[in-house]
Amino acid sequence: MKTASCKMTCTSKDLLTLFNDLKNGKPVDASRIEDSLINQKLKQTLQKRNFDINFNLLNKMDSPPLRVDFMPLHRLITEEEIEDVLSEIKDVLPTGKFTSGPQVRVFESEIAAFLNKKYCLASSSGTDAMIVALKAAGVGHGDEVIMPANSFAATENAVLAVGGMPVFCDIDPDTFCMTASNIENRITSKTKCILPVHLYGKQPDMKAIAEIADHYRIPIIEDACQSIGVTGLGKYSLCTILSFNPYKNLGTCGKAGAIVTDQQTFATSCIEYMYHGFELDQKNKKTADYGFNSKIDNLQAAIGLARMKYLSLNNLKRLSLADRYIKHLQPYEEKGQIKLPKMAEDHVWHLFTIKIINGNRDQVKEMLYNLHHVETDVYYPILSHQQKTSLVKTHYQDTVLPVTESVHKQMLQLPLYPHLTIEEQDKVMEALIDVLS
Ligand SMILES: Cc1ncc(COP(=O)(O)O)c(C=O)c1O
Repeated sequence: MKTASCKMTCTSKDLLTLFNDLKNGKPVDASRIEDSLINQKLKQTLQKRNFDINFNLLNKMDSPPLRVDFMPLHRLITEEEIEDVLSEIKDVLPTGKFTSGPQVRVFESEIAAFLNKKYCLASSSGTDAMIVALKAAGVGHGDEVIMPANSFAATENAVLAVGGMPVFCDIDPDTFCMTASNIENRITSKTKCILPVHLYGKQPDMKAIAEIADHYRIPIIEDACQSIGVTGLGKYSLCTILSFNPYKNLGTCGKAGAIVTDQQTFATSCIEYMYHGFELDQKNKKTADYGFNSKIDNLQAAIGLARMKYLSLNNLKRLSLADRYIKHLQPYEEKGQIKLPKMAEDHVWHLFTIKIINGNRDQVKEMLYNLHHVETDVYYPILSHQQKTSLVKTHYQDTVLPVTESVHKQMLQLPLYPHLTIEEQDKVMEALIDVLS
């Protein structure tokens, strides 16, 4: 349930203020940070004696790295986290409560409180959460859903899974997110839902999108799978979809996701679709015609509880790494060689995306790897309306998205994850500067 509080929740806006204060040597009163599992490690870190953000936040290594991997899986979890996870698992295993169980409720209430929302329904994945939410929002056969073409395939697949038709809409060249005016151009009498994606951890202009949605009375479902921790998630939408797969800012040790909403009737319908159409807390008594098997496992929720203690601290580390990239690469933006993302209050830095303006992106990527052993990536290599599928051939041959298509050729993701060391990040930047020159 919602709780009124004037303490810092440590979503992106608070984190940016905190970061700037710490960087400028202003004292930070850690007691102002809300006591929650999500903030636990951040609070403990800030309370350490002599903590200095310029020296003690980011990881360091003793010798210069020979290579930098984009997202080394074994470094997405620390020894300390593994201990925490094992301890949670040890508590659950003897109970035999592997699928449903008490940890699910605790996990859900922590996430709901963090987003300041009434209901969190934890699911077996972000994809399943989206399918359930679209069903509960009434999206069905032939209904159109407006969404971007540069998201992960899960976004369009969820729409297709419920019988809907994705209608792809162009984006802003700097934020990579859908814009309100492009959305309005795509609205027809068949539009049943607007599905903005908070790509790379950046929130689209949700206020502007909501004005259009309200005008045409179309619900918004937000795909925030990459952006847990952004301030104001769910403020303008029917619901927010989250993913807790291990690559996300908050990952479990498997697949998991959630639907977060304030609307009781919608939440009830989601609960029914999530588990075989059964009435809430009624064993095997159907109230909906059918439903899926899409609840989070209790064991995965327990793991999520262990790992969520690190979320705000990890989001601060991501912010600090993004800040270093922006600061050190600024001169190359000024020379017109690259375009950098802007530091913003509504960004949780899931991925750090630059654009190669003066040059061939694929060649830059190759040279970074071949000459400097620096791995970068492209999220995602093929746009939805350019996939080689029969659906695309029959339905999307005429889809033209000038901005999406143009930035898609330029964008490149640099390594950014909480445990990337300063030395590794320096190597990435030195390599990029060398290749650009
Ligand atoms: C933008 C976006 N939407 C949806 C999903 C699907 O989430 P999951 O992997 O939990 O099914 C992802 C995850 O990769 C994603 O990045």
